[in-house]
Amino acid sequence: MTKLGIILSSARPNRVGEHVSRWVRDAVPTGVDVDLIDLREVTLPAFDGTSSPKQGLPKETDHARAWGERIDALDALVILTPQYNGSYPGNLKNAIDFLYQEWSELPTLLIGYGWGSAHEVLPALEALMTRLGADVVGSVGLGFREDMSVEGELFVTEEKNTALHEHLGTITERALSKVG
Ligand SMILES: Cc1cc2nc3c(=O)[nH]c(=O)nc-3n(C[C@H](O)[C@H](O)[C@H](O)COP(=O)(O)O)c2cc1C
Repeated sequence: MTKLGIILSSARPNRVGEHVSRWVRDAVPTGVDVDLIDLREVTLPAFDGTSSPKQGLPKETDHARAWGERIDALDALVILTPQYNGSYPGNLKNAIDFLYQEWSELPTLLIGYGWGSAHEVLPALEALMTRLGADVVGSVGLGFREDMSVEGELFVTEEKNTALHEHLGTITERALSKVG
C-alpha cells in the first residue's frame, strides 16, 4: 500500500495547521496509508551531526536514525507550512537538514498558508526541497480571507480544492510507478 507522509510543521498550541492537515487528509485517495508527522512530537534537537547528511555517512544518533527511517518508509509526501516572516518555520528547516538521501526523488506536494496565499514561503520551500532532489509536483497556497479565517475555519476556493485533489493524485501515481 502507498504510504503518504503529511508533515505538520507548526508547533503552536492554537495552530491553524491542524485544520489544514484535516483538509488534506480528507482529500487523500482511498487505499493510501497516511502517516501524519507532527513535528511537535518528533522532538529533534538542533542539527547535531558531525558531518553533512549529504555525505551519506551512517547516522550517529538514535533521533537521526529514527527520523531517517520514518521518512525513508514514505512513498510520497505532503509538507504543510505556515508563513513565518516570509519563510518556513525554523523547526521544519531543522528537520529537513537532518536528512538528505531520504528526500531524494520523493514525490512531494507543498501546502502553504498565510497572508497573500503564502506566496513567500512556497517558492522558498520549493527551492529547498528541489535542491535536496525531491520530486516537487506542485504547491497550493491558502490565503487568510480568501480560503480561511485566521482562526482556521476553512472555506477553500473550488479552484484550490481541485488543485489539491489533482496534486494528490499525481504524487500517489508517481509513488506507485516508483514502487512498481
Ligand atoms: C513568528 C510568526 C511570524 C509570522 N509571519 C508571517 C508572515 O511573514 N506572513 C504571513 O502571511 N503570516 C505571518 N504570520 C501569521 C501566520 O501565518 C499565522 O499566525 C498562521 O496561523 C500560522 O500558522 P499556525 O497557526 O499553523 O502556526 C506569522 C506568525 C508567526 C507566529
